[in-house]
Amino acid sequence: MSLPKVQHYFDHNATTPVCLEVRQALPELSLAWGNPSSIHWGGRAPKNILRDARRDLAKALEVSPLEIIFTSGGSESNNTVIRGLFEYLQVSPYLSKEQKLRHHYMCSTVEHPSVMKAMQHIQALGARVDFIPVNRKGQIDLNFFRQHLSEETALVSVMMANNETGTIFPVQEMAALAHAKGALFHTDAVQAFGKIPVDLAELDVDFASFSGHKFYSVKGAGFLYSKKGSQLSSLIQGGGQERHRRGGTENVLGIGCLGVVARRLPQVKDRAHQLTVLRDYLERRLLNEMNEVTVTAGESLRLPNTSSLVISGADGETLLMSLDIEGYAVSTGAACSSGNPEPSPVLLAMGLSRSEAQNSLRLSLGWETTLQEIDEFVDVLKRVVQRLRSLREDQGDHCHV
Ligand SMILES: Cc1ncc(COP(=O)(O)O)c(C=O)c1O
Repeated sequence: MSLPKVQHYFDHNATTPVCLEVRQALPELSLAWGNPSSIHWGGRAPKNILRDARRDLAKALEVSPLEIIFTSGGSESNNTVIRGLFEYLQVSPYLSKEQKLRHHYMCSTVEHPSVMKAMQHIQALGARVDFIPVNRKGQIDLNFFRQHLSEETALVSVMMANNETGTIFPVQEMAALAHAKGALFHTDAVQAFGKIPVDLAELDVDFASFSGHKFYSVKGAGFLYSKKGSQLSSLIQGGGQERHRRGGTENVLGIGCLGVVARRLPQVKDRAHQLTVLRDYLERRLLNEMNEVTVTAGESLRLPNTSSLVISGADGETLLMSLDIEGYAVSTGAACSSGNPEPSPVLLAMGLSRSEAQNSLRLSLGWETTLQEIDEFVDVLKRVVQRLRSLREDQGDHCHV
């Protein structure tokens, strides 16, 4: 398949480009091809790469290096917490009387499938699971949360920021409420990290998931923050890697790249400001210059880079394909569900109708997005939407004949 002549990327929540620093570091990292578990000379360089990346990520998050468990990314980290805790509470011979009573789990209705499906999995194995509703503005129902949280709750898992709408959840407040009942708290920080500051000490969560390919590193490497003293069964049984918390020879190249990005993270605040300016400008232009366009959860606290639009009269899939031909990469929902014609479960869970969800377009900007690109995009979008709407009108007229 041929690539379009111009390529503009507005799909950074699906994945980000690999940044220059990582690309430059790759050749040298690849020379450390030994097994980090080897005690001979071959193991030294890869072991140092793991140690440095762990140290630098821990420094960026102001946590202890021992609290970082390297994984293959967000999905594995999320599964590790939910399934790992469930299993630990089922099989560990060292549980307190109080721990033995904890069979209840909670998450929001708009979590990533790796959280939703892990929750459904443990539900099928006997756990009691409650899904906390989220309203049209993307705000989580804290009353429902308070009412259902109890001394039986083992774990609450609520994402820091939603991948489809960018809405940011009150993780700090919810973690405090969970802790007051003795429950553990996990946040999927995959979309937040690199876009907004993530202060784990302030949030006071027990677990947090991260994925390299969402913050300008390579795919297949991420990590789980697991607060000191937290107990989980390992999802992957194997050698004693990661202090027996994740079996399997480490992805040294991918982990080395995580370390490279960790060293440039202090710029996040500036980047967030720059992205907010661009995103707000994009939305202002669309709302001023187009009819029947709304921003989903536009009035809520959101990631600086994300805009989820409902464009009535323009089917999201058709719009995506038309924009692709023009060289623009956008999304109609989570990338993992692309190719699936069903409307996004996240938007439906927020209370959007099927047709609103089907007419949704997600734009997610990145560190390299420019004002000029946005201006050009708005002009192309207006033209494409006008064409799709007039085609629809023609078809509608035809039907009435
Ligand atoms: C919020 C969220 N969590 C988890 C994931 C999964 O991460 P990974 O692709 O590293 O498995 C994604 C990816 O889209 C995501 O957006």
